[in-house]
This record gives sequence, structure tokens and C-alpha cells, in this order.
Amino acid sequence: MQRIIIDTDAGVDDALAILYLLASPGVRIEAITTVFGNVDLSTATANIAEILTVAGASVPMIARGADGPLAGQRVDAAEVHGDDGLGGWTRRGRVSGPALDPLPAPVVITRLARHYPDQIDLLLIGPATNAAIARLLDPEGFALLRRIVIMGGAVFGPGNVTPAAEFNVFCDPWATRHVLDSGIPVVMVPLDATRKAVLTRKALEGALASRSDVRAAFLRTICGHVFRADRGALGEDGLFLHDPLAAALLVDTGLATATRNVGVAVETTPSEGWGRTTAVSSGAPATVVLESDLARFLPQLLDRVCQ
Ligand code: RIB
Ligand code: CA
Repeated sequence: MQRIIIDTDAGVDDALAILYLLASPGVRIEAITTVFGNVDLSTATANIAEILTVAGASVPMIARGADGPLAGQRVDAAEVHGDDGLGGWTRRGRVSGPALDPLPAPVVITRLARHYPDQIDLLLIGPATNAAIARLLDPEGFALLRRIVIMGGAVFGPGNVTPAAEFNVFCDPWATRHVLDSGIPVVMVPLDATRKAVLTRKALEGALASRSDVRAAFLRTICGHVFRADRGALGEDGLFLHDPLAAALLVDTGLATATRNVGVAVETTPSEGWGRTTAVSSGAPATVVLESDLARFLPQLLDRVCQ
């Protein structure tokens, strides 16, 4: 049994990653923790209820985290994910809002790490703020995490928010640096890998066929919004599978076909380089994924997300 915590800013690709993990055998989601990013914290948290309702699933804990970065201005990605983070889907269905844990996300992270020492894998698919605060509040508890998989950064290629920075790191570079410096084994899944993982409208419709159930309607709505947003970058209706690829690499490490063990530096000076991630010997050690087995990942993703 692989015990995981998903820390998420609950946008469209986050929703696909959560649906994928809910359908992944041998994976126990101990908690979903929410953070600002694609949308504000309240919206991100409400979106978890929407996603779980569509999936007909529940998780033991949902906990709210940070609504802003350790330093810098809060940004969002509503232009990509929609104002509600789910392409306009929300409040269409009856949402049985699961109870929120009274503890804040950073405390939930370290309490679970203490309860299950060296067993918890932490997946960061939004800004790393909650994880950084967790380490600051309880470094001994944080050190009991087994592994951290981070969707973030652009190590050998350009960013997607500025030429220098990828969105999750751009949102809170100080937090990303603090997590990389923690000494916990880190697998970094940067744009270098995730830009190569694309879900096209054709592939989604091929998987959904003539289905008209709530899950099919949800997937068409949330993906349809991003298809339009990413069309310029892709030349066809499609979306980048940033978070789902990170989720898949968390539970199926064999999907990584090219990695580099490098030091990663994060730029935290207020400049045009804010949030830049570079491979330097003086940086914090991380395993950076550059290529993955897309021929195996894409069918696996569609199978689990569309089940
Ligand atoms: O840069 C891609 C990342 O930023 C993904 O996690 C996406 O959901 C956004 O948060
Ligand atoms: Ca995300």
C-alpha cells in the first residue's frame, strides 16, 4: 500500500491527477491539502468537493492550507483554468462537501508523517507553500516523509509564466527552495517533461465515445476550457498533462525513461528571473525527470480518469 498526500491548487490538470490517483491500485490517499495557485484557496478547497462528488469517492482528510506565498504577490491562472478553476463546471452538480479537517494543511502533513514514519509520499502539484510551512513548523516531523514529488520548474527549457519561471515555482520560489533544501528525496517533474505529455480532444473523445454520464460531462467541461486556452501553444485542441504526469511518476516510477540527478537552484530575487530553476552543482539535490514513457502513460491515464 502506497500512502500519499496530494497538495493541490485544484485546477483542471490537478483534477485529472486526482481522478487518476483515485483509480490507481495500491494507492491510499491519506489526505488532500489545498493551496492557492490556479485559483484562491477557498475555490481550490471547494473544487476538491466537486471532484470527489464526480468520482463518487472520499478521502480521510481534506485540509486547507496557505492562501498566499511566503513572499511575493499572489497570482492565479484563471485565464487557463477558468475563474472557478474547473472550466466553469462548479455548482452544477449536487456537491456533498466532505468535512474539512480543523487542522491546517501544514500540520496535517507533519502529523501524518509522524503517524506513518518513512511511509508517506508527498505530491506537490501547486505552489510548495504548505510543504515549506510544514517544514518550518515541525522540521522533525517533516523529515519523516519518505519522498516528495514536485510538479514544478523548468530546468533546461523556458518557463510558462515568464521566460524564466514555471507557474508553481513562480507562485512561491522561496517555498520551493525550502522544500528542495529539506534533505527529503525529491523527484522534480518540470516542464521539460510535462510539455511532452499532451491530452488531445480527439483522444479524450475517443475514450469517452458516446458516454453522457456525469463523469463524461465533467471531463468534457473542464478539459474543453483548457483545450481552448492551450490551443495556441499546441496547434490543436489539447492540454498539457503537467499534474497527471507528476501523479503517474509518483505511483509508477518506471514511467520515467530519462532522469538527471542534479543540484537545483531556485532564483528568489525580485527580478525577471524570479522563480527560475537551474541545474547547478551548488543546488539542492533532486532527481529531475526529463522524459517519460508516454506510450504507456497516456492510455493508462485515460483508462483511470474515464473509468
Ligand atoms: O505549470 C503547470 C502547473 O501550474 C500545474 O500544476 C498547473 O495546475 C498549474 O498549477
Ligand atoms: Ca496544479
